[in-house]
Amino acid sequence: MKIVNRIPIWFMRQAGRYLPEYMEIRAKNSDFLKLCLDPDLASEISLQPLKRFDLDFIILFSDILVIPHALGQEVTFLKNHGPLLKSIYSKKDLDYKNLNKALDKISNIFETIKILNSKKKKKNLIGFCGGPFTVLNYMIEGGTSKTHSKIKTFIKNKKDEANDIIKIITEISIEYLKNQIENGANYVQIFESWAGLLENEEYIDFIIKPNQQISKEIREFSKPTKIIHFPRGSRKNYKIFTEEVKCDVLSLDQTYPKELLSLLREKRITVQGNLDPQELLKEGERVEEKTKEVLEKFKKNNHIFNLSHGILPKTKISNIEKVIKVVRDYETSK
Ligand code: CP3
Repeated sequence: MKIVNRIPIWFMRQAGRYLPEYMEIRAKNSDFLKLCLDPDLASEISLQPLKRFDLDFIILFSDILVIPHALGQEVTFLKNHGPLLKSIYSKKDLDYKNLNKALDKISNIFETIKILNSKKKKKNLIGFCGGPFTVLNYMIEGGTSKTHSKIKTFIKNKKDEANDIIKIITEISIEYLKNQIENGANYVQIFESWAGLLENEEYIDFIIKPNQQISKEIREFSKPTKIIHFPRGSRKNYKIFTEEVKCDVLSLDQTYPKELLSLLREKRITVQGNLDPQELLKEGERVEEKTKEVLEKFKKNNHIFNLSHGILPKTKISNIEKVIKVVRDYETSK
């Protein structure tokens, strides 16, 4: 049977701790950053979910925090704790001399992309980086934070310092993405996971402007590359983001305003999302129902099926299979 209207699908964090084959490699490699910088292992991990599931995208296995590492900040990942970064207070605290030297430290990642490109067959290959404000958030907070008080105080009281560092992050992220594209990524996603912390002028200065610059420069560098933006938690600011930042794909969480969908249709921007990853922890037929709801919600838009945030470590593999089946059945029944 000929399939019409195939709905492309992938999952944020599709390679990760819910997969026993990932845990097997992870058990033998306690240094997470080193794992990200090992082309053989990182490419193997990137391909693990595609061996199990009928997915349309490979995403590079790496982390957004390779950028602070490249900029000379000490980054470690502690077991059951998440990332830990040595505190910085200004750009002088970074061991950063120039862009090329910094990129050299993470150039192994381009080798990973090369390997993936040689094995991708007809799949899309997604490269990525963190959004500049999200990366700055981790650099200033020193890790995961509930209150985000340090970053909020920093951008209020030391705006010039914050802008100086954002500029460096933006610049290196652009070069980093260009290298990923040169080595075979045909999509890039910018994970601005903490966009929801900011409003008004701060949203314009720290979210819109840096994302605009990345989008513009990547587009000038490579026309065919698709850019996915993910300003998570933006709520009503999703509309401003859509107006101001040129996106091919906009990844949505649960906070987007309803009117956004018609604006995205007008601008021919593809919607990505937005099944809540918490749903994948539940039993029974709810997963199927929730997946159908997402498909119905976005049926008038161009749609890439995904979650509203990454797969959680306790996710059952059978639930991922259920979601994919519902998506495939839905597209063939249309
Ligand atoms: O999506 C994929 O499969 C590609 C790989 C990927 C990872 N991290 C692997 C990872 C991607 C795209 C990321 C992005 C990332 N990393 C973001 C943006 C998306 C988001 O979740 O908001 C952020 C904020 C980070 C920073 C980070 N990395 C944190 C806060 C943590 C610890 C908490 C957590 O969720 O695990 C990590 C570690 C990390 N990155 C793991 C993986 C598979 C787990 C590491 C382990 O094996 O112990």
